[in-house]
Amino acid sequence: MKPVKVGLLGLGTVGCGTVRVLARNADEIQRRAGRGIRIVSASARDMTRPRDCDLQGIALTADAYAVVDDPAIQIVLELIGGIELARELVLRAIDNGKHVVTANKALIALHGNEIFAHASKRGVTVAFEAAVGGGIPIIKAIREALAGNTIEWLAGIINGTGNFILTEMRDKGRDFADVLAEAQRLGYAEADPTFDVEGIDAAHKLTILASIAFGIPLQFERVYTEGIARISREDVVNAAELGYRIKHLGIARRRAEGIELRVHPTLVPHRRLLANVDGVMNAVLVRADAVGPTLYYGPGAGAEPTASAVVADLVDVTRALTVDPTNRVPHLAFQPDALADVPV
Ligand code: HSE
Repeated sequence: MKPVKVGLLGLGTVGCGTVRVLARNADEIQRRAGRGIRIVSASARDMTRPRDCDLQGIALTADAYAVVDDPAIQIVLELIGGIELARELVLRAIDNGKHVVTANKALIALHGNEIFAHASKRGVTVAFEAAVGGGIPIIKAIREALAGNTIEWLAGIINGTGNFILTEMRDKGRDFADVLAEAQRLGYAEADPTFDVEGIDAAHKLTILASIAFGIPLQFERVYTEGIARISREDVVNAAELGYRIKHLGIARRRAEGIELRVHPTLVPHRRLLANVDGVMNAVLVRADAVGPTLYYGPGAGAEPTASAVVADLVDVTRALTVDPTNRVPHLAFQPDALADVPV
């Protein structure tokens, strides 16, 4: 069977990481997906920038619309980030009957309801495992592995940059700004790092997790959001002396009145599991009625951890396309029609 043809939008940290992982693990991936997965074209704003991946055999263009309009492309992989252009391109790809894989949490949190409704009508899939928790398979875990449970609450460290800053301030006495600059160099931070330090990125991710866990629409505007920008080295050191770690948590809890959604810095007693999640690692603790507590831990940002989740989605979509030659694959995301608008 011929390889499935992917059009890639964006050749930044995660785009290049995905090109590398697809090439390095091509045999394994083909075996799991039932056929090969080939990036045939890729778009990037700046084609001259040196990149840490081999782009041979990939048609390069500065025109992202050429990729989403290419009739040969079956899956569009959106890794440009940002909101408005990404929304336009993803909706157009869906209208063109293409499946979409994206790592764009801001896009899903803000426009996911519209995007999934479109995809559902068109009978295509929008997969977004890489949008939350980097390499941790947290979306699949909640949607698939915990499908038989009523979820009571979830709480997690869901921004790698913020956790890296808090850890380095505590362990090495480093300055906030200095660690943030390093997170940017390492490709952990958002293009606009205020999204990381003001809690906005975590709020996007919590919006997505809560939607899947509780079957509610995406409601970013209802998340109470506070970041770590005003936390000093002294705060972190003082908390440690009192037996606590300052962790930036995203918390979603089922209450009689609705679903409570909040992200903010929290004092966590130092013996707790979440207190010991350091550096760029993320962790999400989920409390569900049948299984009890489960914990998901792993790298929350970075090129290849995020690419790991992106490629898993490509494999999922390819597998579904391969077993169903009519191209009508079951929607991997929640069904928006089935959602109730639960007040928070
Ligand atoms: N800026 C994000 C983080 C990237 O630091 O967690 C991964 O979503």
